[in-house]
Amino acid sequence: DWTMAAFRSQAVEEIRAKVGSAKVICGLSGGVDSSVAALLIHEAIGDQLTCIFVDHGLLRMGEAEEVVGMFRDHYNIPLVHVQAQDLFIGALEGELDPEVKRKTIGRLFIETFEAEAAKVGGAEFLAQGTLYPDVIESVSFTGGPSVTIKSHHNVGGLPERMNMKLVEPLRELFKDEVRELGRELGLPDRFVGRHPFPGPGLAIRCPGGVTREKLDILRQADAIYLDEIRKAGLYDAIWQAFAVLLPVQTVGVMGDGRTYEFVCALRAVTSVDGMTADFYPYDMEFLGNAATRIINEVRGINRVVYDITSKPPGTIEWE
Ligand code: XMP
Repeated sequence: DWTMAAFRSQAVEEIRAKVGSAKVICGLSGGVDSSVAALLIHEAIGDQLTCIFVDHGLLRMGEAEEVVGMFRDHYNIPLVHVQAQDLFIGALEGELDPEVKRKTIGRLFIETFEAEAAKVGGAEFLAQGTLYPDVIESVSFTGGPSVTIKSHHNVGGLPERMNMKLVEPLRELFKDEVRELGRELGLPDRFVGRHPFPGPGLAIRCPGGVTREKLDILRQADAIYLDEIRKAGLYDAIWQAFAVLLPVQTVGVMGDGRTYEFVCALRAVTSVDGMTADFYPYDMEFLGNAATRIINEVRGINRVVYDITSKPPGTIEWE
C-alpha cells in the first residue's frame, strides 16, 4: 500500500533527524503497538536501539519465547530479556485484592524497567507505541470521569521519572493503521492481528490469589482454548478471548474416581475499542469441544463454564 510505504519512509527520516546518534530504549510487550514501534525505529537507527522485555511470569504459554525469537533472533534487534518471574510472583503471593495486585505489578514493572534501562547506559530517548487515540483520549477506557474502575498498568509516567526524551512514531495512527504498517514492515500475522493482552497479564485472570501452580494450570487451559478458536477460524472475529481460573473447586467424576478440582471460565467478546463489549455467541458444539479438551488435557480442572456477561455491566477482564 503506497500510503503506508510513504508513511514508513517519512517516519524513518523523522526518527533519524530527531535521535541523531543517541541511544534509544523501547519496552517490548509482545503487543502490536510496541512491536511495530520497535521495528520502525530499528529500521531507522539500527543498533542504537535496545529493546527491554520484562518477563513477569504472567504471560501466556510460549509468549516470551515467541517475542525473544522474533525480535532478537529473527530481526537481530538488541533485546534484553529480563527474567523477573520470581520477583513478581513472589510479591503477588497471598494477595487477593485486585487493585493491590494491579498496583503491585505496575510498581514492580516500572522499577524493573528503570533498573534495566540504567544498565544499558546513556540512553537519551525512550520509545513508546503511543497511538492517536491515546493522545486525544486522556480518559481511561474503563473508568468514568470520576470513578476509577481499575488502575491501569502502563508506562505513561516513565519518561518524566527517568528524565528521558520520547520517541513516539505511531502518534498519528489508529490501531488499524498500525496493523497495516506492521504488515508493511513484514511483521508476521501472529503479531499483527494479536488480541489485546493486559499489562498485569494472567495475574488478573487468577482471581483469589496467584500461585505458580495456578498460573501453570491457567496457561494450559488458555492455550487449548485459543488453539480451538484458531482451528475453528474464529480468532479474527473475536476482539479478545481467554481463560480464567476460578478459586473454586468442584466435585467431578473421572473413570471410577471422584475428582475435586478447579473451575475454568472461558471468556470471549466482540468490541470496537474495549469500552463496551458483547459476549461472543459461540455455537454450543464449539464450547462443548473446548470444554472436553480442557478437562481431558489439563490436570487440575474438572469443570468449564462460559461467561455470557457483556460490558457493561461486566468488564472484559475479571479483575
Ligand atoms: P476491562 O477489563 O477494563 O478491559 O473491560 C478493557 C480492555 O483493557 C485491557 N486491560 C488492560 N490493558 N493494562 C493494559 O494494558 C491494564 O492494566 C489493563 N486492564 C485491562 C483489557 O484486556 C481489555 O482489552
